[in-house]
Amino acid sequence: MEFFSFLILYALIWVYPVRVVAALGQVLLCQGVSSGHEELHDNDIETPCQRMCRALATILPGTVIDVNEEAYAEKQMDYFSRQQSDLYPACFFLPRNASEVSQAIILANATACAFAVKSGGHATFEGASNSRQGLTINLERLNQVTLAENGTVAKIGAGNRWHDVFVELEKNNITVPGGRTGSVGVGGLTLGGGLSFFSGHIGLAVLADGSILDVNRESHPDLYWALRGGGANFALITRFDMHSFPHEMMWGGIRNYTIDQVDAVLDAYVDFGLRAAEDPSAYQITTIYYTNAKHHATVDLYNTVPEPNPSIFSALERARAYSDTTAVNRQSNITWTNYRGQPDGHRQTYWTATYRLDRGLADFVKQVFLEETDQLGDLEGLEARCILQVFTTDILRHMKKNGGNALGISDRDYPLMLLNPAFRWEDQMDDSRIMLANMNFVNRVDAQARKMGLYEPFLYMNYASQFQDVVHGYGEANLERLRAVALDYDPDGLFQTLQPGYFKLNGRVGW
Ligand SMILES: Cc1cc2nc3c(=O)[nH]c(=O)nc-3n(C[C@H](O)[C@H](O)[C@H](O)COP(=O)(O)OP(=O)(O)OC[C@H]3O[C@@H](n4cnc5c(N)ncnc54)[C@H](O)[C@@H]3O)c2cc1C
Ligand SMILES: *[C@@H]1O[C@H](CO)[C@@H](O)[C@H](O)[C@H]1NC(C)=O
Ligand SMILES: *[C@@H]1O[C@H](CO)[C@@H](O)[C@H](O)[C@H]1NC(C)=O
Ligand SMILES: *[C@@H]1O[C@H](CO)[C@@H](O)[C@H](O)[C@H]1NC(C)=O
Ligand SMILES: *[C@@H]1O[C@H](CO)[C@@H](O)[C@H](O)[C@H]1NC(C)=O
Ligand SMILES: *[C@@H]1O[C@H](CO)[C@@H](O)[C@H](O)[C@H]1NC(C)=O
Ligand SMILES: *[C@@H]1O[C@H](CO)[C@@H](O)[C@H](O)[C@H]1NC(C)=O
Repeated sequence: MEFFSFLILYALIWVYPVRVVAALGQVLLCQGVSSGHEELHDNDIETPCQRMCRALATILPGTVIDVNEEAYAEKQMDYFSRQQSDLYPACFFLPRNASEVSQAIILANATACAFAVKSGGHATFEGASNSRQGLTINLERLNQVTLAENGTVAKIGAGNRWHDVFVELEKNNITVPGGRTGSVGVGGLTLGGGLSFFSGHIGLAVLADGSILDVNRESHPDLYWALRGGGANFALITRFDMHSFPHEMMWGGIRNYTIDQVDAVLDAYVDFGLRAAEDPSAYQITTIYYTNAKHHATVDLYNTVPEPNPSIFSALERARAYSDTTAVNRQSNITWTNYRGQPDGHRQTYWTATYRLDRGLADFVKQVFLEETDQLGDLEGLEARCILQVFTTDILRHMKKNGGNALGISDRDYPLMLLNPAFRWEDQMDDSRIMLANMNFVNRVDAQARKMGLYEPFLYMNYASQFQDVVHGYGEANLERLRAVALDYDPDGLFQTLQPGYFKLNGRVGW
């Protein structure tokens, strides 16, 4: 009976608007099973998502990878974090174009099958882009990179990884603002607000294009605004249109330091952050590491023009590096190297916090990180990173451009410290210790920052853990506006309820 119903539904999709089809879908299909996120039981009743998968496989042959197929395991392993790979979706759906995506969304609603959407699969926590027995929509076939308007706009399929985008654009000696690690996906990074090498020049990385609506600043200003940082709450984006700009070579690489150099490294981090507006081509990421029960520090340096050692990094000369890979190279090459340092398949957690940039607070961050990690001892495969970046005044200023964004920090006229604890380990038994260490770390620094008057409520979605309330950090006014936009474009709250895995507008996260 279901199969026949789906075929009717399929026919109706082409004739009636979404709402009519969905309502009919309920009538045709609903008995017996109520929700897509139930556990599987040892009986013969198909879950809504299993029916959904069967229907999609019939309607759109070649788009569904079922549990029994060999490719299933490969798709399951194609995530940055082990926690995501440990989930078993009812099937993977690999749409070839926006129209196939739209059919799946309509059917998901009609069957009440919960789904997850995967671009590069680099969100760290379970369920962000893979589903618990739901439908996992894998965008990897939406991988075109084409140029329009005489090469000034790149139309980028939402399932691309940044490395592939850069390789393609470099053929024309152009680029777009994108990720610094080649394996990260275009979709998640962009919807989360997108920090990149070029942040200082262009601001955030979005001109968005909906699967059905051609979304741009003129056509749908509210949705366009919301998608710049509002995450997976409004639409499923199949293509991003980004302004490209000329680009041939850049300078960058990684310097490593023994831990006795860390104070000089932090001096240089704060010095760079305070002076960054002097040189918007330059960017740096400072990391304190804990591996094999030992600490060291690393600085990633970037200059989007091919000039080595710009003077903005001069303070770093006072720290003695024991290794240095900085060189003039292609952007794709540098992002590829970063990818090799961050392989898939390990347990991962990312956390975040934001503060007014301050040398004293940076020192407190270091102290707390050393203490919290020392207490962990030598856990199997532990690599703990305390990653420090800066929202420079230039980046903040650019956020105001092109209609602004939802993040709620663009009015700050001082640089912000962006803290990102990032831990990787092997054993599930260590999960709770590691989560607690991260929670303590962030809570302790928050408390100190409040005392010093440096606390900022903003949480960068792309680095936030599932235990952090990102949307409230945008401020009440922005959150109200985001909710209003969601209500306009998704009055039934489909993306709020049927796509439960990432930061929702009620502050909730997860399946
Ligand atoms: C090694 C590493 C390096 C990183 N480097 C950077 C960096 O340089 N700059 C930076 O800003 N961030 C960086 N991040 C953070 C990164 O931006 C986020 O993890 C981001 O969510 C990853 O995007 P993705 O597409 O790979 O992830 P996914 O897990 O595929 O997606 C993340 C979320 O976005 C949703 N989503 C993805 N695509 C779409 C779409 N087309 N339509 C609707 N929803 C969608 C997914 O459903 C999911 O909820 C890095 C992360 C890692 C692990
Ligand atoms: C989803 O299905 C419900 C129940 O059938 C229906 O009321 C609603 O209009 C549908 N939503 C969308 C966005 O199609
Ligand atoms: C989507 O892709 C499928 C498979 O290639 C194709 O049959 C279909 O016509 C495409 N739809 C649109 C609207 O392009
Ligand atoms: C593209 O280039 C052509 C010729 O070089 C020019 O005539 C045209 O105006 C340009 N179009 C845009 C959109 O810039
Ligand atoms: C890109 O730049 C390189 C190096 O400067 C040059 O050799 C090449 O011809 C350029 N390619 C295009 C398509 O402009
Ligand atoms: C130092 O930097 C290099 C990059 O060249 C990296 O591969 C290496 O693992 C780093 N770490 C240590 C502890 O040396
Ligand atoms: C990156 O650049 C280095 C140095 O120029 C080169 O040896 C290496 O092969 C390049 N790697 C890739 C993947 O392009």
